[in-house]
Formats: sequence, C-alpha cells, structure tokens
Amino acid sequence: MNKILITGVAGLLGSRLASWIIENTNHEVIGIDDLSGGYAENIHKKVKFYKFNLNDLETLKNVFEKEKVNIVYHFAAYAAEGLSPFIRKYNYENNLITSTNLITCSIQYSVSRFVFASSMSVYGDKYKPPFDETMQQTPIDPYAVAKYAVEMDLDIAYKQHGLNYTIVRPHNFYGIHQNIWDKYRNVLGIWMYQILNKQSPTIFGDGSQIRAFSYVDDSVLPFWNASQNNSCIGEIINLGGIREYTINDACNILINVTGLNIQPVHLEERHETKYAWSTWDKSVKLLGFEHKVDLEEGLSKMWQWAQKQPNRERFSWPNYELNKGIYKFWKN
Ligand SMILES: NC(=O)c1ccc[n+]([C@@H]2O[C@H](COP(=O)([O-])OP(=O)(O)OC[C@H]3O[C@@H](n4cnc5c(N)ncnc54)[C@H](O)[C@@H]3O)[C@@H](O)[C@H]2O)c1
Repeated sequence: MNKILITGVAGLLGSRLASWIIENTNHEVIGIDDLSGGYAENIHKKVKFYKFNLNDLETLKNVFEKEKVNIVYHFAAYAAEGLSPFIRKYNYENNLITSTNLITCSIQYSVSRFVFASSMSVYGDKYKPPFDETMQQTPIDPYAVAKYAVEMDLDIAYKQHGLNYTIVRPHNFYGIHQNIWDKYRNVLGIWMYQILNKQSPTIFGDGSQIRAFSYVDDSVLPFWNASQNNSCIGEIINLGGIREYTINDACNILINVTGLNIQPVHLEERHETKYAWSTWDKSVKLLGFEHKVDLEEGLSKMWQWAQKQPNRERFSWPNYELNKGIYKFWKN
C-alpha cells in the first residue's frame, strides 16, 4: 500500500482523483488544501485531510515527516489566468513558491513520483494549434510563467536529486466539484453561476476564441497512470480535448442543456491566447487517455449538480495589486 499525497484535494481535479483512488485501489490518500478555492464537501471522507496553505514550509515538512508519502500529486494553485497580471505577487507566491516548497519536501523525503498539473497555457500564443509537447514554452501571462518555472524546477530536481516527475498539461477540464462561484476563472463555471442567478452568460470579445473541453472524470485514469507507469518518468504530456469549439458554440450548447430562453452578452476582449488546443496522441499512448464524455453530456451532468449546490456568495477580489489596465468588467 502506498501513501499518496494530493494537494488541492478540495478542488476539481484533486477531489475526483482522490475519490477514485479510495474507491478503486487499496492506497491511502493524504490531502492538503487551504480551501481558498475548493470546498470541504468535495473531499472524500476517507481522505486524511490537512488544511493549510502550502506556502507554510514548516507545516508541510511536518506532514511529510509524519506521513511518509510515496507519491505526490500537485494540483493546488489559483488558476485565474486572466487575472494573474493584476495579482502577480499572489500568483507567484501561491502557485510558484508553494510548488517549490513541495518539491523541496519531495526531494528531502525521497518521494518516488511527483506528478504536476501544469497547464496548456505554457504554450502561449506563438504557435498555431494543436500544441504538441515538443514546442518550446512561450507563456504570455504570470500564471503560465509560474507553471513553466515549476516545470523547469522539477527538471532540475530530477537531474540533480533524482526526483522522478511527470508533468501533465491539462486543458479545460470541467464538471462536478468545479468552483462556479469565482468570477475570474473557468468559463463554463462562470456561465453556470450566471444562468443559475438569472444573469446572461458573458463572453469576452466576439466569442470566436477556440478551446477544447474535457469532462473531469476522463482525467482520473490518465492521472493515475501518470504515477504508475515508469514510461512517464521525466515526460511532459498534454491531457484533454479531442474536439474544439468556439466559445460561442460552447455557450450555445450550455444554453441548450439548460433549456432556458437566454442569450449571451459580449464584453470587452481580454489579453488571452485566441486559439488554443493540444495534441492528445501522447496521452493516449502513455496515460491511456480516452475521451468518453462529450460536451453536451458532461454539461448536463454538471448542470444537474450545479442546481443542487448552495447559493454561495460569489468571490470577488476587494483590491487588486495593480489597477492599471484592469478590464471594465472586473473594476471594483
Ligand atoms: N481544470 C483544468 O482544466 C486545468 C487546466 C490546466 C491546468 N490546471 C491545473 O490543475 C490544477 C487543478 O485544477 P482544478 O481545476 O482542480 O483547480 P481548483 O481551483 O478546482 O483546485 C485547486 C485547489 O487548490 C487549493 N489551493 C490553492 N492554493 C492553495 C495553497 N496555497 N495551499 C493549499 N491549497 C491551495 C484550492 O483551495 C483548490 O481546492 C491547478 O494547478 C490548475 O492550474 C487545471
């Protein structure tokens, strides 16, 4: 039996993987989350849960000392990519320094595998999609810079200290347990919140941006395999999305799923990569990725779930670190 540490265990990807491991294997799951972006209700009751912020290195060391974990899955982050230029300090402290703390402990306590949820954002906007893993990272915002920095730090940890890592670059997973109460992230979650609250779904710019989407449960087995297959050691692997949609089309699909008579409204454009989707061949070969749930079906499951959720207060930053250039729709 292994002890498996999952950071971000109250979030979308971490909570679903934790439940799957508990229900399908005999391994023990240790979870860390500060509940800044996830919810305690998402955590399987058999997870041994520690609530703290990963930037607390001493507390993290104590968990490693006590739990003797073999495998680490690192999901914790604040994934508000578009907001990251306006909260640089928070972004780097929360997404980069926390990760280097975890890498330090993983080296010190001889973890056998470190699986990192990086992001498709590291490709930036230099290339024509689909992005494949051999392309050089060219991030266009601080969120993606932090992911890229962690990728580089892991490679150093591997070469200097023998820390076996696997970098997975997910893109646009959605589904039950997603935070739909944060207005800065997760396009499908933002729309669900708006529709539930009788607001029109909002689209940044003309909606011709293109993304691919995947249902969260299609991520679980690939993530599991990432720590189990030795062929994944030292590899970078895209994960998700075999079919691309314009943002306008994705919005219309959700509106159809809800059965409501509503129309989206268009807001000013954001600084973002316009066309972004990835190759998936390597994930099929190394991680056994299968796209099982189509967007309509996945959105139906998420919509059913969302309607049963408490009407939580929507999260809003009281102050940004930088106000210059902030979009009208985020101005306080
Ligand atoms: N969902 C996707 O499609 C997607 C795409 C690309 C990358 N990723 C990456 O995968 C990871 C998981 O994504 P998700 O969609 O599950 O996000 P999520 O927001 O649902 O989960 C992240 C969890 O991390 C926790 N957390 C954040 N900062 C923390 C800190 N400093 N200390 C302790 N806990 C902290 C949050 O409370 C939350 O529960 C993230 O690193 C994200 O950047 C996700």
